[in-house]
Amino acid sequence: MGKLRVGFIGVGGIAVSRHIPSFLTLTDQVELTAVCDVNLDRAASVASEFSIPFYTSQYDELFEHVDAVTICTPNKFHAEIAIAAFNAGKHVLCEKPMAMTTQECESMIDASEAAGKVLMIAYHYRHMKEARAAKRFIDAGEIGRPLVSRAQAIRRRKVPGWGVFTNKDLQGGGSLIDFGCHFLDLALHLMDFPEIAEVSGATYNELSRQPEVVNQWGVFEPSTFEVDDHATAYIKFKDGATLLFETSWAANLADDKESVSISGTNGGLDVFPLVLYQSKYGMLLDQKAYWISDDNDPGIPQALNFVESCRGTQTPLVKPQEALTVSRVIEAIYKSSETGKAISFT
Ligand SMILES: NC(=O)c1ccc[n+]([C@@H]2O[C@H](COP(=O)([O-])OP(=O)(O)OC[C@H]3O[C@@H](n4cnc5c(N)ncnc54)[C@H](O)[C@@H]3O)[C@@H](O)[C@H]2O)c1
Repeated sequence: MGKLRVGFIGVGGIAVSRHIPSFLTLTDQVELTAVCDVNLDRAASVASEFSIPFYTSQYDELFEHVDAVTICTPNKFHAEIAIAAFNAGKHVLCEKPMAMTTQECESMIDASEAAGKVLMIAYHYRHMKEARAAKRFIDAGEIGRPLVSRAQAIRRRKVPGWGVFTNKDLQGGGSLIDFGCHFLDLALHLMDFPEIAEVSGATYNELSRQPEVVNQWGVFEPSTFEVDDHATAYIKFKDGATLLFETSWAANLADDKESVSISGTNGGLDVFPLVLYQSKYGMLLDQKAYWISDDNDPGIPQALNFVESCRGTQTPLVKPQEALTVSRVIEAIYKSSETGKAISFT
């Protein structure tokens, strides 16, 4: 079988820092053949930096040079470009969130099924060692049934001061759709995506009211800050389980926090760092996880899982229907915040 020809659309921060370097570790299986960016100078300089032969500012011109694409544009363009790629018969690895609305996500799934091509979403936390081990532990029944879960994605005053992250039209939202989505996805994955009963949420936009903003990740203009800086949610599942969720780009707290904790009927766990709790022999046993190597770059197993899925030897760890569910929850949190009511999923 020949090498899979991979192209990159939107070659800004995440394409250059994660996707291109990850695929470059797999050159026995893939060839990096093309890049596209609306900013042609950017496309040219990335092509030159990584010795990629073809570059363009028009994504439809890239398709004839590739078998698969990685989409790393602002969220607004994920659906349009993914659907065009499927119509051209290409596989798609799309950055998170899957798209800005559930309707767009559904159209992406329809187009991928019609083309018979892979659609995978880059919820990369699932590929981390801790997450993979936690999933195996839960699937083996070691904590019983998940009852009460908590997901936290907190950054202490770290609004991305580059790109278009504070632009609602291009991104669809702020801390929730950009950062919190990873931890919603991870919690739901570990819980095995139980059926959702209802979602209550609140989102906040306080930074736009502040004349001078303290920020650790560059500079942004408060008067044009259109998105949420904090979001919280309470999610009830049909089996009685619940998930407490909290995210922020700009918490006025001591530290950042990236965590998922699950308390089950017979045990529990914290994912980052991975600690397992088991109720056994009249005791609660705490067990810390240790790894043979410290190397834990999720970009490489993610790229490999995509390549193997395109070849038909694996299935994507992140299934499109699951990423659609994450987007449904995000949409419900925004709607619940707007209406002040719980959003029913029945
Ligand atoms: N998985 C993660 O942890 C993670 C981290 C950062 C960003 N992301 C996601 O990756 C995407 C891009 O984020 P980024 O940080 O790289 O942003 P960025 O602003 O650094 O890069 C985006 C690039 O896309 C280009 N672009 C814009 N519209 C385009 C179009 N229609 N066609 C082709 N190119 C276009 C821009 O010129 C820019 O170079 C977003 O969806 C974001 O949510 C994911």
